[in-house]
Amino acid sequence: MALHLGDTAPDFTQESTEGTIHFHEWAGDNWVILFSHPKDFTPVCTTELGEVSRLKPEFEKRNAKAIGLSVDPLEDHKAWAGDIQETQGHALNFPLLADADRKVSDLYDMIHPNANDTLTVRSVFIIDPDKKVRLTITYPASTGRNFAEILRVLDSLQLTDNEKVATPVNWNKGDDCIIVPALSNEEAKQRFPQGWDEKKPYLRMVKLDK
Ligand code: BEZ
Repeated sequence: MALHLGDTAPDFTQESTEGTIHFHEWAGDNWVILFSHPKDFTPVCTTELGEVSRLKPEFEKRNAKAIGLSVDPLEDHKAWAGDIQETQGHALNFPLLADADRKVSDLYDMIHPNANDTLTVRSVFIIDPDKKVRLTITYPASTGRNFAEILRVLDSLQLTDNEKVATPVNWNKGDDCIIVPALSNEEAKQRFPQGWDEKKPYLRMVKLDK
């Protein structure tokens, strides 16, 4: 069954390029980006895994860890890792699950039979430190993901978990936010003494210094 936002991310034990992963234990107190890719030794996937390796410091700044998956065996993952380093200039530096028995793919509904009945699609899950699913996106096999967007959503989730704000269209860290409609003007004055720009009573833009 498909996972919904707010669901607990299923736990699992599976082999990976960094040894056996007991998922919840491995995640610890971190945010997790769990993503599937269709197949080893394929061009789009090669570029994605190089990019996620390059972005590792950005994930770390956000207390987040990446973990990839495909239904290919561990020996293939290990052989392919050399190609990723050679062609992308970044060595694989996060675990890649070898889900040949489809244990994790089935738990997370990563195989969409009408697209392809054996390979995983490009699923992305952001999972918070309480192990709740906070974002799901599914991309087609032929489209490489934009991991800057995944970082952007992570920034938004981490901000809006701590402040009574939401983030508007095309927001990036540092841009103005929206005061949540549930907060009265009286409450907003306490939280945002710097004031806000009220475009409509329900659309109040605020600058945060974070
Ligand atoms: C790729 O990663 O290049 C790819 C994988 C499956 C289908 C199409 C492209």
